[in-house]
Amino acid sequence: MNNYIWDKLFKKYEQSVKKDENADFAYESLVNTLSILSLCDNLGVALDLGCGDGRFTKELEVRCQKTFAVDLSDSMLKQAKKVCLNTTFLKVDLENKFPKFNTKFDLITCKLVLMYLTNIENLACETYKILNKNGALVVSVTHPMKWMDKTSYLKEDVVPGEIANDKNLKVTFKSRTIQTYINTFTKYGFHLEVVLETGVPDSFVIKYPDYLAFQKKPYRLNLKFVKK
Ligand SMILES: C[S@@+](CC[C@H](N)C(=O)[O-])C[C@H]1O[C@@H](n2cnc3c(N)ncnc32)[C@H](O)[C@@H]1O
Repeated sequence: MNNYIWDKLFKKYEQSVKKDENADFAYESLVNTLSILSLCDNLGVALDLGCGDGRFTKELEVRCQKTFAVDLSDSMLKQAKKVCLNTTFLKVDLENKFPKFNTKFDLITCKLVLMYLTNIENLACETYKILNKNGALVVSVTHPMKWMDKTSYLKEDVVPGEIANDKNLKVTFKSRTIQTYINTFTKYGFHLEVVLETGVPDSFVIKYPDYLAFQKKPYRLNLKFVKK
């Protein structure tokens, strides 16, 4: 199961995060984070689902009135607490019923987590319940086209892969189509507001030439849903 790999492999993950030359992490900070933030205009009380080591949570913390964040991994939560001193953290398994929060949220983000979950119906249902009216849910996933060489785009599948191109960080990804993501969240009441297929800009390829190979396809799928 992926769920425990985050604790087990945290040390390695931490090392790869620290290396500036790691293109995957550079892509997240230089390109994808800006793409996601462009969808986050409702900056009241925020909740970051699957916060990891807190690097994206920090972006919310500096922009929002109050920030909460959850993750399943103790190691990730420990690190995130060091980075985000004004955020409230909780250990939560996103595949189970959510705990009772003492507030509702204006913004819920979920960055690069859904591909590790077997079941995203629970998350769709639970997030809808804890969002305020007109609140937004912003999700970012690996664009499903990335796995087209490994599986059929139209088939939901489990795809073996690595985190940050590190052979020691082997995981399985759940590949879902764009229609599955959209239909799952709209089924629970969300309205789809924005679809952003984020690619690899020329400026990034100049610094990380290996990414030239990814330039013809979108790299991340970022979706903004709203509770009306
Ligand atoms: C690729 S990391 C993304 C971290 C962070 N959102 C970011 O973009 O920097 C995926 C995170 O999802 C968490 N995660 C995976 N499955 C989870 C689950 N079932 N419940 C809660 N968190 C989970 C992992 O512990 C890990 O921190």
